[in-house]
Amino acid sequence: MARFYVTTPIYYVNDAPHIGHAYTTVTADAVARWHRLVGDEVLFVTGTDEHGLKVQRAAEANGLTPKEQADRYSARFREAWELLDISNDDYIRTTEPRHHRAVQALMQAAYDNGWIYSGTYEGLYCVDCEAYYTEADLVDGLCPVHKRPIELMSEENYFFRLSAFTDQLVEWYSDHPDAVVPESRRNEALGIIKGGLQDISITRSALDWGVRVPWDDRHVFYVWYDALINYATVAGYGSDGAAFAKWWPVVHHLLGKDILRFHCVYWPALCMAAGIEPPHSLSVHGYLLVRGEKMSKTAFNQIAPADLVADFGVDGYRYHFLRDQSFGPDGEFSYEGMTARYNADLANNLGNLLARVGAVVAQKCGGVGPAPREDSPLAPLAAEVYEAVAAAWGRIAPNEALEAAWRLVRAANAALEEAEPWKAEPGPEVDAVLGDALEVLRIVAVLASPALTRASGEIWRRIGLLQPISKARLPEAALWGGYPGGLPVVRGEPLFPRRRD
Ligand code: MSP
Repeated sequence: MARFYVTTPIYYVNDAPHIGHAYTTVTADAVARWHRLVGDEVLFVTGTDEHGLKVQRAAEANGLTPKEQADRYSARFREAWELLDISNDDYIRTTEPRHHRAVQALMQAAYDNGWIYSGTYEGLYCVDCEAYYTEADLVDGLCPVHKRPIELMSEENYFFRLSAFTDQLVEWYSDHPDAVVPESRRNEALGIIKGGLQDISITRSALDWGVRVPWDDRHVFYVWYDALINYATVAGYGSDGAAFAKWWPVVHHLLGKDILRFHCVYWPALCMAAGIEPPHSLSVHGYLLVRGEKMSKTAFNQIAPADLVADFGVDGYRYHFLRDQSFGPDGEFSYEGMTARYNADLANNLGNLLARVGAVVAQKCGGVGPAPREDSPLAPLAAEVYEAVAAAWGRIAPNEALEAAWRLVRAANAALEEAEPWKAEPGPEVDAVLGDALEVLRIVAVLASPALTRASGEIWRRIGLLQPISKARLPEAALWGGYPGGLPVVRGEPLFPRRRD
């Protein structure tokens, strides 16, 4: 049995979940569900990134302690994922003791291997910002944010000898040509590496809210070097060697392009420094834009998943983001686009097929679903579609997978329209075309189940299949001829009520 470990970035608890965060999470969930469907052993994890200045500041602004802030917002992410039927196997919070232990163990290994040294960081510092600036950032010699005098500060810090990993990273990229996808992102990462890497400061002494440096407890790790290690924590690093050997490095990281440098340059180097394999693969996607802009607190353009679920349902939500965004480039979200896609694919194509078949089976076959034809003209298409769907999920292209599955839905609708069984006398011809349509519904429900977590099971139920769809396994469940016939076909409320444009 193959193993598949898939991760989302862990989200900062300074902010509430919006559809940008949900985009990565829903995609990872659908991919995890696909792998379970083909029988892989899956570990799918998401969670929250809870340390650092940003969170500490948000807590202060809300009159909370950092821990209270983290508890409150971590719970909001967890609720959002429950709402969206996210099937994560674990939920990591970086404030958990297991994570502190893993960070300390991994960093200690890098330190013991000689890749971390103490040095002095000198720079222009704004105390109000708690951040360093370069000369070029200043406005009239003052802090660009607070317009206050800046101080020359020097801080003792620990540095990671990133510069020493340039050649190893270039070699790793050439030995693993598919590790970072799409190719444009791989080139971007390689460009950063070949452009010259400098050692990076990985600790802070002016901050308390973080994981303590094990060999010098005056410092905590800078939030990014604690956060990245979550992927190892979950796999059992530092606590469960057998689990770690099982899950590492078969890991697939999904991430937005904003955090490419950390994941595709620093993280593999840190793994090498600690003596573990770099991650197996990193899939980088673009932004979800709202009116051309990335969602942000300051742009007031954040949309909460719950608002859209209220209008389109969980399936409508998941289907839209999986079908309409291509994983890679930026994509624009619009309510109108979501409505149009929902009406076309779900209400009209799939919803109509189910409603029509239910009505005609009731009318012409006494409510008992006939079996499909072995030599149905749809059978070769079903085989072709299965191959296309499997290949698309394999390269994390949910939009292509769903597009392929809908070819089968459209073909079944077209066959019905041509045969017009509602006008014909009951008999073998009517049975044949309805049996084929029922078989298409059975197969499409399975192929679309990573996206349509609810409707897929409901389709199986309505066409009389007793086995829960969660027990279906591919490729067997996609083979033509699986619908036995002779089952009660029940009618019900429209699966996807049409929405007004
Ligand atoms: N905490 C870090 C990640 C640490 S991972 C070791 C972080 N968190 S975040 O809350 O800002 O979320 C980052 C991720 O959320 C992005 O990489 C991306 O996957 C997703 N998105 C946030 N806004 C997004 C859009 N507008 N569009 C698409 N994805 C977006 O960075």
